[in-house]
Amino acid sequence: MTLSDTLNRPLRDLRISVTDRCNFRCVYCMPKEVFGSNYKFLLHEQILTYEEITRLARIFVSLGVKKIRLTGGEPLVRKDFPDLLAMLAQIPDIDLTMTTNGSLLSRFAQQLKDAGLKRVTVSLDSLDNEIFKSMNDVDFPVEKVIEGMDAAAAVGLAPVKVNMVVKRGVNESSILPMARFFREKGFILRFIEYMDVGHTNGWRMDDIVSAKEIIKIIHAEMPLEPADPNYRGEVAERWRYKDGSGEIGVIASVTQAFCRDCSRARLSAEGKLYTCLFAIKGHDFRDLLRSGATDEEVAQAVEKIWGKRADRYSEIRSENTIPLPKVEMSHIGG
Ligand code: GTP
Ligand code: 5AD
Ligand code: SF4
Ligand code: SF4
Repeated sequence: MTLSDTLNRPLRDLRISVTDRCNFRCVYCMPKEVFGSNYKFLLHEQILTYEEITRLARIFVSLGVKKIRLTGGEPLVRKDFPDLLAMLAQIPDIDLTMTTNGSLLSRFAQQLKDAGLKRVTVSLDSLDNEIFKSMNDVDFPVEKVIEGMDAAAAVGLAPVKVNMVVKRGVNESSILPMARFFREKGFILRFIEYMDVGHTNGWRMDDIVSAKEIIKIIHAEMPLEPADPNYRGEVAERWRYKDGSGEIGVIASVTQAFCRDCSRARLSAEGKLYTCLFAIKGHDFRDLLRSGATDEEVAQAVEKIWGKRADRYSEIRSENTIPLPKVEMSHIGG
């Protein structure tokens, strides 16, 4: 079964946020002034249960989804997270993966592998503790994240990918050290252009270091050549080191938008379906599930929403980000 939206894009990817909570306060995602002690996170009864998530995931797979990525906030702060993985791992023929800040990964790597996780993507914005701590804003050290990545690789959660958000004037100086370090380690490092997601990070176009610039910096020291995408609609543009020592990726969501092939749907922890990372409104599925709808009725609701989808925010974004209350990254997991 393949659904098609108004721009002929199929639904292939489902990103499920399992919690809106996180143990980091990255300044570009959950700034402390907003996400402080008075911030009202979702209550337990407001978020989907693991049974509800699994039921929805099965329905999405029946509609053509091939990849499920679990996100947060930080997915590993939700209680018994490996139990959810074990339930999702029963669904045949899907790529099951997650994005994590890595802080709890050394503790959980083996359990995640045993539960059926295939691979993992870890966020890390710098190897320099001063810079990294100024970005995570909770004094979390680089070494612990690297320990987590190593633990993941050791139990076979491969390939390990690393996401680095690059913000001008903040961590540009970390581009080369990160490239050298992860080339040596054999992990796939991807540089992400800083985006205007949500409405709390005060984004400006000037904050971006473009993918082109990043490639130029690395190429000057370690020559690169372009590599073909692994699949249609891959978010990261792949580049290979000419000497055969591995690859990197750049995610140019601002300077080279990739909406044309965007086959991603996002489900928030409270069960709202978003058809774009920059959506203003989600479609509630929690009440539908809890009102006793059949699988067929739920599937029809998804079909209807996808059939009307016309999102292409990154292609039409203007110089200044639109001051509308877009959904926060910590709600839909990036
Ligand atoms: P693979 O499955 O390994 O190919 O990973 P992926 O690149 O699809 O997933 P990942 O979560 O690592 O995505 C990397 C980052 O790219 C995200 O955290 C976002 O910052 C950004 N990104 C992913 N999907 C979209 C999208 O649909 N639109 C935009 N604008 N950015 C996206
Ligand atoms: N722009 C780009 N990437 C972001 N992330 C969080 N906020 C932003 C932003 N404003 C990244 C995280 C993580 C992934 C889930 O999204 O660093 O790697
Ligand atoms: Fe947490 Fe990831 Fe947001 Fe940082 S970017 S605050 S680690 S959810
Ligand atoms: Fe997809 Fe929206 Fe990102 Fe474009 S901006 S790639 S439509 S999620």
